[in-house]
Amino acid sequence: MQLPRGTRDILPEEIAKWHFLEREFATVCENYQYQEIRTPIFEHTELFERGVGDSTDIVSKEMYTFQDKGGRSLTLRPEGTASVVRAFVEHKLYGDVSQPIKMYYNEPMFRYERPQGGRQRQFTQMGIEAIGSDDASIDVEVISLAMEFITRIGLQNIKLVINSLGDKESRLKHREALVSHFEPHIDEFCSECQVRLHKNPLRILDCKKDHDNPLIQTAPSILDYLNEASTSYFNKVQTYLHALEIPFEIDPTMVRGLDYYNHTTFEIMSEEEGFGAKTTLCGGGRYHGLVKEFGGPDTPGIGFGLGVERILLALEKANIQTPAKKPLEVYVITAQPEAELKAVTLVNKLRKNGISAEKDYLKRKLKAQLKDANRKNAVYTIILGEEELQTGKYQLKNMETGEQESIFEDNLDIVIQKKLIDTKEEK
Ligand code: HAM
Repeated sequence: MQLPRGTRDILPEEIAKWHFLEREFATVCENYQYQEIRTPIFEHTELFERGVGDSTDIVSKEMYTFQDKGGRSLTLRPEGTASVVRAFVEHKLYGDVSQPIKMYYNEPMFRYERPQGGRQRQFTQMGIEAIGSDDASIDVEVISLAMEFITRIGLQNIKLVINSLGDKESRLKHREALVSHFEPHIDEFCSECQVRLHKNPLRILDCKKDHDNPLIQTAPSILDYLNEASTSYFNKVQTYLHALEIPFEIDPTMVRGLDYYNHTTFEIMSEEEGFGAKTTLCGGGRYHGLVKEFGGPDTPGIGFGLGVERILLALEKANIQTPAKKPLEVYVITAQPEAELKAVTLVNKLRKNGISAEKDYLKRKLKAQLKDANRKNAVYTIILGEEELQTGKYQLKNMETGEQESIFEDNLDIVIQKKLIDTKEEK
């Protein structure tokens, strides 16, 4: 039996890295006053068709859609925004007095894509959504949160790219310009782009088949079609980014693969060498129509999604060490079978006092237990022999220095805790 293509097991030896990222992300989000939200893994298919857009690759080609036994069409979520906005509307969070509602998530997503390094069919996104404000300072808050997380975990070789897709009026003008630009030559494009021309011409710009067609390079730039209000909004975002000293580039060709965006969009790429083709770590932007589309009041939102597997890949390429699992503090060794009961109670006592403790479970001989303690990098060992059982006094051995100290069982946890703190401080 093997894994389905495009999925991965995260083995115990890798989990410390995941826990590290989860902790850091939650810490940054909480500093920015975002609260976690958890939504179901599957939703009604219509949610993504209407939210993400049925002419996007995600909806038209990549969704895991199935019928349940009641004949409903359900889909494993391909992204997080549609579900969070649905929850915002369904639970009437727009009625809450503390607006905007700021939420974060950390969840698996599913897209039927061709697997390669950094691209999976089940992947994990850490993301945030701030719904209820159209102030440019929140755009910059969202971008700055993503940048802070990425730099806090140690990644340095990164690039922030921003763009504006403008408001409805600007987009309509740009759309007309795109149709006029592509229409005379549409025969040169794939059959899907021919359909996109009148349905959603912006999608031609991120077509995977036609991306080398020179007409894509010469296509009208959205920035030339932004009306005054959209330009002023975009300028404000840039002013705030400068004020926070967050370097960025503007890329007017960045259209993002989801239909709900308007105004600010952004991506953060890794510039790490040897990273491969899929370098976008994080993508996000504003969506002003989504809450209304799902039956709520006209409410603006903004957020991002960050690919955790890609972050891990970038950390690896940059050779960044993440904290390891909790070390083994005490290994209790038995020198004779009669000591087994004492070993069971002793590790239990140490663990209850917050000290990580381990013993042998394979009836190993003394020497093999010592070897096991070394293999597991135990900080201290205690050997339980005849004398220890009789006196209740144990030799605590520091495995690094070889120093030994004899301690009564009653004082053991306090002494060990103190020693562990002292060595940590020394280091
Ligand atoms: P997205 O650009 O489709 O945006 O995905 C965000 C991030 O998820 C990507 O930058 C990438 O790191 C990761 N990702 C996407 N697909 C895969 C895959 N097949 N394998 C591994 N990682 C992947 C969204 O999903 C939007 N919901 C972001 C957003 C939130 N916009 C506003 N709010």
